[in-house]
Amino acid sequence: MHPPQSSLVPTLLSLSILLTSSLAAPMPVPGEASSPDVTKLFNGLGHIFVLNSTSYASASLADSIGCLSSDGFVTASDCAVFSTVTTYPKTISSKVGGCSFGNQDMPTNDDSRYGGRQHAWSCNEDAKIVPEGERYYTINGFKHPFICNGNLNCYYDIPRAPSRKDGKDKVFVWQFAWGSEQMGITPGHLQVLWVWVPLGEKDGDGSSVKPF
Ligand SMILES: *[C@@H]1O[C@H](CO)[C@@H](O)[C@H](O)[C@H]1NC(C)=O
Repeated sequence: MHPPQSSLVPTLLSLSILLTSSLAAPMPVPGEASSPDVTKLFNGLGHIFVLNSTSYASASLADSIGCLSSDGFVTASDCAVFSTVTTYPKTISSKVGGCSFGNQDMPTNDDSRYGGRQHAWSCNEDAKIVPEGERYYTINGFKHPFICNGNLNCYYDIPRAPSRKDGKDKVFVWQFAWGSEQMGITPGHLQVLWVWVPLGEKDGDGSSVKPF
């Protein structure tokens, strides 16, 4: 029996599970970095680094221009601890609360041809602003645990890089929306990837990040 499939994502997830199980058994190669099980890495607690890249095939951590803060902005160095301690696909939360693109109080991406109804990402303690269905996942085959959501939304749109001089300078993050009238990133904006940098299962003080 197959569960009802309302989008491509469950198909891809099952595919990646199949691929994982067929690849996992025969060869544990120490130090082999080309095909890590990124679905295992995207787990527990971690930072989310933001890579200035239009290609998950060639992006590396060296493309990092910042990281996400606890309230959900890109900053140069105010890197929050996020929690993904839910089952797959996962919710993401920070010490502030659950994180999502569903907060109607966040500004829309009005520079974008397709962003007029898209709200910037945020983390908020009020569960009502975090849509039930908003889930995040990564895909085996990626070299790093890049974070996707919805129907293969694996890129994000930011208006500019955060200031390096002011490590707390905050920049909004939107979904990357495109179509026939704007095939690429919003003019003047940067197309970015989010990569999960795992920190293990427990925060330093053991308490500041709660499962959402
Ligand atoms: C982002 O990447 C583009 C394309 O490689 C490059 O032109 C631009 O300078 C980069 N911006 C930053 C802030 O790293």
